[in-house]
Order: sequence, then C-alpha cells, then structure tokens
Amino acid sequence: MSLAPEAGTVERWAWDYVLSTSLEHKLNPPSPPDVWSAEPVATRIAAPGRPPELRVVPRAEKLRGFRSPRGRARAMHTFFHHELQAAELMAWALLAFADTPREFREGLLRMVGDETRHMRMYAAEIDRLGQRIGDFAVRDWFWQRVPGCREVTSFVAVMGLGLESANLDHSAALARELRSVGDEQAARVQDVVGLEEIAHVRFGVRWFTAFAGRLDFDSWRRALPAPLSPLLMRGRPLRRDARERAGQPPEFIDELERWTPEERGP
Ligand SMILES: [Fe+2]
Ligand SMILES: [Fe+2]
Repeated sequence: MSLAPEAGTVERWAWDYVLSTSLEHKLNPPSPPDVWSAEPVATRIAAPGRPPELRVVPRAEKLRGFRSPRGRARAMHTFFHHELQAAELMAWALLAFADTPREFREGLLRMVGDETRHMRMYAAEIDRLGQRIGDFAVRDWFWQRVPGCREVTSFVAVMGLGLESANLDHSAALARELRSVGDEQAARVQDVVGLEEIAHVRFGVRWFTAFAGRLDFDSWRRALPAPLSPLLMRGRPLRRDARERAGQPPEFIDELERWTPEERGP
C-alpha cells in the first residue's frame, strides 16, 4: 500500500511537491487544491526529490567575493537553495504534523507559496548575473537537521523562531554588503525577502506560544533538536526592530544576543 495521500487533496499536493524531481515543478508548482484530507495520516517523508540540475554535495563552498557577478550569483544560488528547502520543509511539516489545527497547516501551505516566490526572485537574479541553476553545488543542510524534529513545537522553534529569524538579521547585513559593491537590484531582493520573512517569524511566534504555552528563551532553546543551538539562529548584528515587529519579546532578543556556547555548562 502506498503512503501517498489521496489524489486531489492538499496533502497529496504537498507530497508531490516534496518528492518531485522536476526543477520546473519546484519553482512553479500548480495551485494547491481547496480540498483537505478528511482524516490525514501523519507521514514523515525521509528525503526530498532532487532535480537532475542540482548537484548536492556534503559541504558547500564558503560564500565569498561579492565584487564579481559570478560571486554574487553563487551567493544567490545558495539562497535559492535555502528557499527551496524551506518550501519543501513547510510541505513536509504539513504532512508530518497532520494532527495540528487546520489553521496551522493552512499557514504552512501559504508559506510554501511565499518560499517558491522567493525562489523565483533568486532564480531571476542568478539569470541576470549570467549564471544558471545548477552552476554551483548545493548542500541539503536543512534537510539533514529539520526532520529530526519529533514534535511540532521543535519544528516551529527551528524554522520560524530559528532559521527564518536569523534570516531577518542576515538579509539586512547582505543588503548592505551588496549595496557596498554597487548591486542595488540584488540588495533590493534581500530587502523584500527580509521584509516578507517578518510574517513567517510572526507565524513562528504565534504557534510556538500556542503549542508550548509560552515563549521565553529557555523554552525555545530546549525545543531545538540536538545538535542545533542558538548560535545558528542569529546573525550579527541582530535586527532588533524586525524581530520585535514579528512579536519576539524584548527579553528573548536580549538573551539571544547575550547567549554564548560556553553558557551551556558542564
Ligand atoms: Fe523565504
Ligand atoms: Fe520563510
């Protein structure tokens, strides 16, 4: 018996998106249906489908060299792949956490749409800078970590309150760097993505609070599955204004700012 959800449902659409091996499908999935499974079964997909264009390697090269168009295209390619993994993992979570409120899963579905739009923005930038999807190797880092979340609280801690929050910090720093080398258009893409991710972080704040009963630094930290730590969940400097707009409590931001790995103790 196949684990594939019933044809014509949102669940099947999410399943097909994660497992597709077509780059076109990953970039431009069909509109999701209106119908949800009446009795969805929690299903954890082990690994995504990978289009032949993408060369997946265990370690990606470090980002450097924003001065050349090729260097900037390589960075955009890395961000493109982050967005792809984010889109896939939102679809993955919709299936893995089938027993959560429909409203939560509807939010995940909307975010798949946002992340694919971000992918298309980066794809256009890669093209403008004279490169193509697949010209650089990619690493499925998010996929190596996020499915380790057994509970939905952990998933929200890692995505909305972790990686997407860090992206608020990173996108602002990257926009400044891209402007400093004169690439206003690439900088603007960072501005737009950074602005739109505020809503995703707000989604994380709202649902972490709902699932965990509260949002404070320690409950968030405890929800991160090993070996993930707050270190990877922030950029420098922290975008305090954006994080506050997304609803992160000021004390949470203070503790995140202060946190160092040594504080973990013996
Ligand atoms: Fe995104
Ligand atoms: Fe996002």
